Amino acid sequence: MKVLVIGSGGREHAICWRLARSPSVKQLYCAPGNPGTAALATNVPIGVDNQQELVAFARKETIDLTVVGPEAPLCTGIQRRFAEAGLLLFGPSLEAARLEGSKVFSKQFMREHDIPTAAFDVFDDAAAALAYIADHDRARVVKADGLAAGKGVFVASSEDEAREAVRALLTERTMGDAGRRILVEERLQGEEVSVIAIADGERVLTLASSQDHKPVFDGDKGPNTGGMGAYSPAPVLDDALQARVKQEVLLPTVAGMAAAGHPFRGVLYAGLMIVDGDPYVLEYNCRFGDPEAQPLMARFDDDLVPYLVGAAQGRLPQRAPKWDLRAALCVVMTAGGYPGGYARGEPIDGIDKAQAFDDVLLFQAGTATRDDGQLVTSGGRVLGVTALGTDLQQAQRRAYQAVDCISWKGVHFRRDIGHRGLGPA
Ligand code: AMP
Ligand code: GLY
Repeated sequence: MKVLVIGSGGREHAICWRLARSPSVKQLYCAPGNPGTAALATNVPIGVDNQQELVAFARKETIDLTVVGPEAPLCTGIQRRFAEAGLLLFGPSLEAARLEGSKVFSKQFMREHDIPTAAFDVFDDAAAALAYIADHDRARVVKADGLAAGKGVFVASSEDEAREAVRALLTERTMGDAGRRILVEERLQGEEVSVIAIADGERVLTLASSQDHKPVFDGDKGPNTGGMGAYSPAPVLDDALQARVKQEVLLPTVAGMAAAGHPFRGVLYAGLMIVDGDPYVLEYNCRFGDPEAQPLMARFDDDLVPYLVGAAQGRLPQRAPKWDLRAALCVVMTAGGYPGGYARGEPIDGIDKAQAFDDVLLFQAGTATRDDGQLVTSGGRVLGVTALGTDLQQAQRRAYQAVDCISWKGVHFRRDIGHRGLGPA
């Protein structure tokens, strides 16, 4: 079959890598892709926001399955456009994607369906939000309703900081319309973990556990990023807890969306805080996490196509996929300055040496090829190095061995990916 992957990050490179190993995939395309995906797929120069051209391309090439990486096209209705053209697409409808696209919708949905989450209220008026913060000692997290590229959440450590976030969003409108409505919620203390599943509108297949590292510096210091590294499995999520998350979170979510007339078909990602052993949902995402997808695709040891096609058609295969029992750990290498401003166009050295190690996979993200063929940086998160190992420690050692071969001017990465599973490297 012919498969099109939409996106250009490490997640999409990892998905392409896994799909390229599927016996049923005869031709693989990636739009727009990156220099890494170009080695596995035909890159198609159409941006993720250009839905009209993406549909036209898929029609012309008679694409059998389209897999959407990032949330933005899903939250603006790409699923329906493809469906209307008679094309199969893996990813939820716009209505179902509101679980990610609107934080207010998702919190109200959780409340309605008794899905455990932090106490909250919704505001569009600054004075009312400030009064709520004054009345509730633990109401310290302020979130913009709409998509804000990971920058719309303020986890305040004091009442003053929380008040400042309210003013920024509602009075100064720093996030524009995304922050026209806000949530103020209780700050939870615990350990964060991601549970990523594939849903077919009714049933749910939970994937292997994984854990992301959001802050930019070692020791979880500094501002949050899209993710500086991830590993799988995550020891904090044992079988018992995983079963509870399925019963208490994933199945009620899918049942609730189906009852509302918007069956959720695609990746259902629950960002959780484990508080005294109990799971609470911080947020939903409607697509694979990035970087979590990198160790997950490295460990998914089966044909991915039947799962994606099955979910999109409302009939997930009954059997569970095979997983590589080894651990996988991904270190994201970024441009210096990220998540703030950073330089582009820095030549990248050492890729070939890093790739030569056994059980090391390199997934590119913000890279570009210069006219003279030199690979250069072109984004904040430049690439991810994923290694497999018999245990997390070995995976970590192998990943950093490869990371240490790669360099460019200003390169930054965390030295402690995996620390919550093991302690510092
Ligand atoms: P979100 O995009 O809603 O997952 O929020 C981004 C990050 O903010 C999460 O990954 C957490 O680290 C943190 N966060 C969000 N909500 C809470 C909360 N209620 N309590 C503590 N931390 C939170
Ligand atoms: N790594 C977190 C996310 O993809 O949302």
